[in-house]
Amino acid sequence: MEQKFYITTPIYYVNDVPHIGHAYTTIAADILARYNRLKGKKVFFLTGTDEHGQKVEKAAKDKGRTPKEHADIMVENFKSLWSRLNISNDAFIRTTDPEHIITVQGLIQLLWDDGEIEKRQYSGWYCTPDERFWTEKDLVDGNCPDCGRAVEQIQEENYFFLMSKYQDRLIKYIEDSPSYILPETRRNEVLGFLKNNTLGDLCISRPKARLAWGIPFSFDEAFVTYVWFDALLNYYSGTKYLAPLKAVSSQRSAISNKEEILNSELLTLNSDNWWPADHHLVGKDILTTHAVYWSTMLMALKFPLPKNIFAHGWWTVEGKKMSKSLGNVVDPNEMVEKYGVDAVRYFLIREVPFGLDGNFSEEALVIRINTDLANDLGNLLSRFLAMAEKYFGGVIEGIEGDIVDASFASECIKTLYPARDDANWSNIRFNIILDSIWNVVRMANNYIAQTEPWKLAKDNKAQLKQVMVNIWNALRLTAISLYPFMPDAAEKMWKQLGMINNITEEAFKEEVTNWQYSGIKVQKGEQLFPRIEVKKEMQKSDEQKPPVQNESDNLISIEDFAKVQLKIGKVLQAERVPKSNKLIKLQVDTGEQRQIVAGIGHAYAPEDLAGKCVVIVTNLKPAKLMGVESQGMLLAATDSNGVLSILIPERNVKEGAVIK
Ligand code: ME8
Repeated sequence: MEQKFYITTPIYYVNDVPHIGHAYTTIAADILARYNRLKGKKVFFLTGTDEHGQKVEKAAKDKGRTPKEHADIMVENFKSLWSRLNISNDAFIRTTDPEHIITVQGLIQLLWDDGEIEKRQYSGWYCTPDERFWTEKDLVDGNCPDCGRAVEQIQEENYFFLMSKYQDRLIKYIEDSPSYILPETRRNEVLGFLKNNTLGDLCISRPKARLAWGIPFSFDEAFVTYVWFDALLNYYSGTKYLAPLKAVSSQRSAISNKEEILNSELLTLNSDNWWPADHHLVGKDILTTHAVYWSTMLMALKFPLPKNIFAHGWWTVEGKKMSKSLGNVVDPNEMVEKYGVDAVRYFLIREVPFGLDGNFSEEALVIRINTDLANDLGNLLSRFLAMAEKYFGGVIEGIEGDIVDASFASECIKTLYPARDDANWSNIRFNIILDSIWNVVRMANNYIAQTEPWKLAKDNKAQLKQVMVNIWNALRLTAISLYPFMPDAAEKMWKQLGMINNITEEAFKEEVTNWQYSGIKVQKGEQLFPRIEVKKEMQKSDEQKPPVQNESDNLISIEDFAKVQLKIGKVLQAERVPKSNKLIKLQVDTGEQRQIVAGIGHAYAPEDLAGKCVVIVTNLKPAKLMGVESQGMLLAATDSNGVLSILIPERNVKEGAVIK
């Protein structure tokens, strides 16, 4: 039987305009969905919008629309962005869909009938913009602890989900299931929270008189449910009426009769359903609602829990929270317009390891495009195609006998192993996967430098033919591995490499890593990753720098130079400095262990650095960078395009070796 893979994103508030944060989660889900389709699984990828609640009601009123009319207009912002970002979602759920409404009504009814919900008098501090109650001790200076705005005291009757009774069971469940919540730091946070606090019950209703724009309770028409109890259930309801192989046909009108609701097939969990999800991807902002509210709701419903909830990190812009009032909200449409869809997809996923926070800047995006895409990958492809054209009229002929440089072939396959390792995919280690792909790209670039095809073209065409086969295979595997991340570019690469069949047909088959020898005609086409001219503003700021002095104005004596102590250091450990994309903290052995903080985070991932031998200035006065002490300086070169490369000794020398 085909294996199933079910992945979700949060359903986004329809009222907001989507920005790079929303794009981030959805792109990540898309990558996983595409990978799993390539693996031959039957995939259901669900995204959508959260459409009930006070904010939508108010915004609609201000615009003279009904809430549904307003949602119908706003939802298009999300749909059009997803199509622009090449998102391959199988369905789009809206919480105003009649089937979703019936499901929510029915499941609440079941919980009510089972005594999992109670009606109680409630008094609390209410934050209207956040649509949330707080207790007295939660407040910060009398204001909402989340947004800092004023709260009002409200007393009313409401329905409560009896969440507190599941506290111990939830702790045990999380402890027994190491990959239920990822990354591990977030899992520990949730466990810490659950062990150190007493879980309360969850208020799940609003009196209709105060909020009409929600889902009415079938057993009490004076109340509606909205936001979390409504929104979280989308993950289940979507599987019932939107999924491929769905169990229930669409029903486009709501029903209000309790019997009919309870008899609806929407409520039954069959063994052939899509439930449970393999991953719920969410931002860290809504981890508690998923790890605690959603898990306990499912326990009360006696539904299986999802296999994984992954909470990724938070994007800021130039170090600040994105907000309309600061005017720093980054529109992904604009980025795609300027840099192309695949560059945006790649940048967001590449720039920070999935799980950590990131800081968005257009400058970092341009650097990534110019280094990784234009320089490393684009150059490799265009050099290869140009050579194929020049030396063989575009035909990569088959070779006979043993493969030349067989170690290059086996090294490529070995290097690519992490990108094809299911464990890296199921733990969502995009950085490790992309590192391994780029290591192959670098290997292939080095291979060209070592084999010098332009020389072979003069005196050894037979060997050149084989070298070209090797590079072609490295590029073929690169294209395949990149497909989930950059589907358009990978497909174009595939075609340029002369492949006729569809890239998705064979990408993750075992035999795809076999080194292929057969002849093929490559198709030189458009340049896939053109270099981006560094922004005029950046050039301007360069112009303001003092003029470069002539080298002869700047001469130093040998004695001056001798004052600088340079040594070879071996990187023992590397990690990013928190809240900085640029700084990496290294533990380096230069004969003695020292800590170095280097501004190389845009060009290198910490995992790239461990084990490398580098050049260190060892007698600099220690300095603090973002509060972290650096005992020396790592040497790196930066060219006029901002491409940075650390200096590495040409041969193996022992750490501590003195540079003179
Ligand atoms: O919370 N960095 O919807 P929402 C990274 N409707 N990710 C970000 C981000 C940022 N700066 N900003 C937003 C809701 N996100 C509820 C969810 S689910 C049953 C209901 C992403 O529109 C991230 O995935 O506020 C975050 O969790 C989500 O958008 C919040 O979207």
